[in-house]
Parts: sequence; C-alpha cells; structure tokens
Amino acid sequence: MESIITVSLPNNTYNIHIASNGLLTLGERIKELKVGKKILLVSNPEIFDYYGDIAIKSLEKAGFTVNYHLIPAGENYKTLEYLAKIYDSALEYSLERKSTLLALGGGVVGDMTGFAAATWLRGINFIQVPTSLLAMVDASVGGKTGVNHPQGKNLIGAFYQPKLVLIDPTVLKTLPEREFKAGMAEVIKYGVIWDKTLFERLENANNIDSLNNFDDGLLKDILVRSCQAKAEVVSQDEKEGGLRAILNYGHTIGHVIESLTNYDTFVHGEAVAMGMVGAGNIAVKMGLWSESEAKRQDSLIEKTGLPTVIPSNLDVETAIAHLQTDKKVEEGKVRFILPNSIGSVIITDRVTSDLVRQVMNNN
Ligand code: GLY
Repeated sequence: MESIITVSLPNNTYNIHIASNGLLTLGERIKELKVGKKILLVSNPEIFDYYGDIAIKSLEKAGFTVNYHLIPAGENYKTLEYLAKIYDSALEYSLERKSTLLALGGGVVGDMTGFAAATWLRGINFIQVPTSLLAMVDASVGGKTGVNHPQGKNLIGAFYQPKLVLIDPTVLKTLPEREFKAGMAEVIKYGVIWDKTLFERLENANNIDSLNNFDDGLLKDILVRSCQAKAEVVSQDEKEGGLRAILNYGHTIGHVIESLTNYDTFVHGEAVAMGMVGAGNIAVKMGLWSESEAKRQDSLIEKTGLPTVIPSNLDVETAIAHLQTDKKVEEGKVRFILPNSIGSVIITDRVTSDLVRQVMNNN
C-alpha cells in the first residue's frame, strides 16, 4: 500500500506518505527533500530496539550521517528537563541550520522532537516517523509540538510543521493492543466530526477491537481517511483560529477525566472515548443531535473495546472548576465541540455547568 496525502499550507506544504515497509526507503524519501547531510534521530529505547536499526541503515544508505538520542518512554519525560537533553545532543553532534531532527516514535517523541526542531538554531528540519496509531492519525500531522509544564499538559509549545510524515503501517504489529484501541478513539473522532463514510466503514467492519482483525484494506482506509481529515482541517486553519478546534472533540471532558484520575488510570484515547460519549450526550440534551445517532457513536466506541461510561467516583465539582482552566477556555467560556449529525460538528460556548454535571454523573 502506498498513498500520499498533502497538507497544503501557505508556507510549509508537506506530504504524508503512507507506505507498507516505508521505513526501508526512509533515506531515499528524505533525500528528495534536499535537506543537509546530518540527521539526529530521536526515539525511545523500546521503539529504537525494534526499528532504530532499520531506520538508520536506510538513512545511511542514502548518504546521511546519523546519530541518535533516546528519551525514556512515557508522558512523564515530556518535560523541559528532557527536552534540554535533546539540545545537548544537538550540540554534541554539531547540528547545523540544514540538519534534521527525526522523530521515530509515538506522540511524546514526536511532540518533543518537533519542539526541539522548532527552537534549535531558531528552527531546523523536522521529520515525523510515527510508530503508534495515535501518532499516525493525529499527533504527527499538523505541527503541534511541545512539552508539559508541571501545572498542565502541552502548556509550552509551538506550531512547527514537519517536512515529511512517513507512516509505515507494518510497525503497528509491535504496538500494544491497548494503545491500538486508544488510537482508534481518534479515528472514530474523525468519523464523527468530518467523515461520515469513515464512520460507516467502521460500523460495517466485522471486528475492530484488535489490529489482528483488520485486513490491509481496512487499515489503509482508516489511515488514509484520518490523515486526509486532519490535513483538510489543518490546511484551513493551521494555528487553531477557529475550525481546527473541532479536532478537540471529546477532549474537553476527556482531559478532565485524565486529570482527575492523575493521568495513571486511562490512556489518552480511552479518556477521549468517554469524552466523546459525554459530548454526544450533551448534544442530545441540547437538542442538537438525535439520540439514535449518538447511540451509533457509542456503539462504535464500545465495539472498539473502549470505555463508554465515565467513572462514577470522579469529583464532579472539581471537574467543572477544572474545565475553566482548560486551554480550550476563551474569555472565561468553555468551548465544546458538539455533533449535529454524523460527520458534522459545531463549536459552542453555550454548554451550562449543570449539563456537564448531569453528563459527568451519567444522568
Ligand atoms: N490534536 C489536535 C490538533 O492537532 O489540533
């Protein structure tokens, strides 16, 4: 399978290559971009063990000089402290203006490497080679980069677009099942907010709760259609002045759930799944969305094996207070993304605390 999707932007247009075994031709693909000879590959130890060698061999074969830098795996290391270590390596290997930082890994590696690329020497080349489903369909596309602050996720960051995103679906075979399902939450999100055909494709598939149940055609469709949806949205609104906010569907309540459970109970996609159920429920209660379509969404989430019920032991008042500190607040008003039909959403600040209370209490 090989597909190319273009993210069209005023100054930084780039391609997403979706190619089985694409890792083997990574070097050739980068050579076409006419970047400098030096590449610093950033990864985490586990991903590097699986794929570092293949990536480096391909890069060296194409004539690049490659060094690597490893970040311990996990969101806990997405900090300024660990970012500084990437800068240390950039210095050690004398990266120059034309050099490239290449992210080989999931969202944490991609976000941190991108931010390092945005800031080192005021901006050097950046390439994304995502290895998790979530990073393939969301984090690696669109240029959001950054690190966490102790007070909140992704508070420090920059929009910085990669020069190329290479998605090699064959690497998903080593992704843990739970992470695969979590990535599927973002795929379902694109179906609800943008692409009815994708939604129906998932509805009509026999079994979508494990990569083992995907045939190549289905996997290709979800990757292509998800990346297309993200590319279309980002092309219209690179820096989230308006439309791009729809990509946060399910994330408002999702972030609250993650935060109230100390980020150690649910992975991001699971929280987003419950967040989509919550947002769908709010849309129904506000008369925006039909109950039958909301049920179709919830069934699809359930069919993927993702959680649909918001835990009953959450402190709902803290949750509501928490919403006010979310990045999605504008002039004191919480913005919600709510569906009005499958494939279409609206952005509204008219959701009352009382409605959020009801939905968080599963009423
Ligand atoms: N993950 C949301 C966005 O890229 O805007």
